[in-house]
Amino acid sequence: MAIRKRPARKRAPASRASAGRVPEGSAPEPVDDSLDALRDAAAGCKRCPLWKPATQTVFGEGPDDARILVVGEQPGDQEDLSGHPFVGPAGKLFDRALEELGIDRGRIYVTNAVKHFKFERRGKARLHRSPNPAEQRACRVWLEGEIARIRPDIVVCLGAIAARNVFGTKFGLMKQRGTWQSLPDGGRGFATVHPSWVLRQRDSASREAAMRGFVADLALLLDA
Ligand code: URA
Repeated sequence: MAIRKRPARKRAPASRASAGRVPEGSAPEPVDDSLDALRDAAAGCKRCPLWKPATQTVFGEGPDDARILVVGEQPGDQEDLSGHPFVGPAGKLFDRALEELGIDRGRIYVTNAVKHFKFERRGKARLHRSPNPAEQRACRVWLEGEIARIRPDIVVCLGAIAARNVFGTKFGLMKQRGTWQSLPDGGRGFATVHPSWVLRQRDSASREAAMRGFVADLALLLDA
């Protein structure tokens, strides 16, 4: 039997390497108001305990003047190892949905509500665990910082955790998905299901129906 090697863990970025100087429960201050400075500061974040078992902070990526900013929940196994958001199975499904709609991902800023992978070890596997409210609160400073710097016209939330972080804790995903919501800064946005939820459907017919619903919600972007 062929032995599959796990991808090598990437060397931690400089700011994490110097994270020894950052006290637990805090994070470095960004050196200026730029998105790059925010990214560098987030790389050394210890605002909650998730930094420790994770490989690295997975910050958002995309143009810093993007009109559309997409928020997911948290990096998964492949994102944690590579340092890039939405590159694993959920990211591939998201890419397929964008491709169907003719939307170029390169013009979108893609990020997560929580920037470290939370997982439980089961043998060799690292199983996703949902970030708790305190972990989400600790991380909100980075998402708010990204939104404040990019000032997108539209924020798209993938899944309930992203939606509650952006639209408030009363947001009901299954009732309110695919409907425009206003944001306090004058922008607007909407939420749809998380691509992992589409992948988790029990059979191919249900997965296809979930995919149709996901694409239909994202189609709001076409005339926005
Ligand atoms: N799921 C997310 O919410 N974000 C990622 O980056 C990957 C999977």
